[in-house]
Amino acid sequence: MTSPATTTPALLPGGAALSFQNGQLMLEQVALSALAREHGTPLFVYSRAAILSALAAYQRGFAGRRAQICYAMKANASLAILRLLAEAGCGFDIVSVGELERALAAGATPSKIVFSGIGKTRQEMRRALEVGIGCFNVESLPELDVLSEVAQSCGQRAPVSIRVNPNVDARTHPYISTGLKGNKFGIAHEQALAAYRHAASLPGLRVAGIDCHIGSQITEVAPYLEAMDRVLDLVTAIEAAGIAIGHIDFGGGLGIDYRGETPPAADALWAELLARMDARGFGERQIMIEPGRSLVGNAGVCLTEVLYLKPGEQKNFCIVDAAMNDLPRPALYEAYHRIVPVVQATPDAATSTWDVVGPVCESGDWLGRERALAVRPGDHLAVLSAGAYCMSMASNYNARPRAAEVLVDGAQARLIRRREQLQDLWRDELG
Ligand code: LLP
Repeated sequence: MTSPATTTPALLPGGAALSFQNGQLMLEQVALSALAREHGTPLFVYSRAAILSALAAYQRGFAGRRAQICYAMKANASLAILRLLAEAGCGFDIVSVGELERALAAGATPSKIVFSGIGKTRQEMRRALEVGIGCFNVESLPELDVLSEVAQSCGQRAPVSIRVNPNVDARTHPYISTGLKGNKFGIAHEQALAAYRHAASLPGLRVAGIDCHIGSQITEVAPYLEAMDRVLDLVTAIEAAGIAIGHIDFGGGLGIDYRGETPPAADALWAELLARMDARGFGERQIMIEPGRSLVGNAGVCLTEVLYLKPGEQKNFCIVDAAMNDLPRPALYEAYHRIVPVVQATPDAATSTWDVVGPVCESGDWLGRERALAVRPGDHLAVLSAGAYCMSMASNYNARPRAAEVLVDGAQARLIRRREQLQDLWRDELG
């Protein structure tokens, strides 16, 4: 017999398909303890329903509009996830030829692909032109020149948007804020019109749209509205110069609940942005967006086993088998991820405060600090909100094979990536 799902808002993020049932942490209808036993740890587990429901919020927001959602696949590029999103109508925002080939391998429609990034190589441009991607988001004047040259040599005109930097403060972590003057992305607002004039004059280019992305893990509507106004000002100026802007690509960046943040829902955010576009007479314009984290971040968890407990004078360490190579966000950004037991402790179990750390030989190798947990060696823990920028940023540091991945659908669970084998670690070496 199963009791009704109980979720504690402070413990589990909303919309994540996670619940405790009879003391067991479930993702959809699958007990995570069973998956940890079957596949070993560290193990990433994703919910198909949570991904589709995050996508549905955007789709609701754009109902009746001309809009294309291009999933920023850097957030999580596992083929099964890409395939799921491609089948649900998504295009992809890519930043390398590796991502391009991955997206194609997952069945992406080339015309729904946009290519972002400040350092595209000629070879990457050539391949993207060959398969017929939808648009290049260009980030500098020299890149415009090179792309024009490459496209001409392929007998084509490359569709381009210029990524403009609206100089808006996204009020997020400095490493993931991209729309301010002092960072390497985009072309300054003041130089955008001149850049468009230049693009329009180049024989290998066709101006398709305008692009902007102000940062990541944004939890407020205001920076978006500010950026939208600035982009629409530019569209007006560029079109007054006789250059038509087919679409407006508004990037990604919508945040998720890691530790109680309350970002707007995607449909609510877009209701406000579309109202602004309507009010300014741009309601009919084709829209593109590039969400990453908000589609997959809270659809995934990372399961890990407690190896050792090491109480100390100043700190207590809970040493687990997942590490900064599997889940680099805490080490890189001091990011917070909730950590919960996969099987709830009995009420009489002693709770202590632990720093949850991995086996990698670096003091920065921690997953969570000062967490109240009742744990014993052999227990499994779940690191939450691990669907975005975890597996996709994983490395082999300390010669640690990368984790396995499972996709859950209702009561079914399917292995979508085998655990990396030890021999894989030196497969490409010539030593
Ligand atoms: N478009 C462009 C041009 C981007 O650079 C990014 C993310 C996105 C879209 C998707 O942004 P999202 O919707 O996921 O916020 N590793 C960091 C995040 C880096 C984001 C890089 N660019 C983290 O773990 O927080």
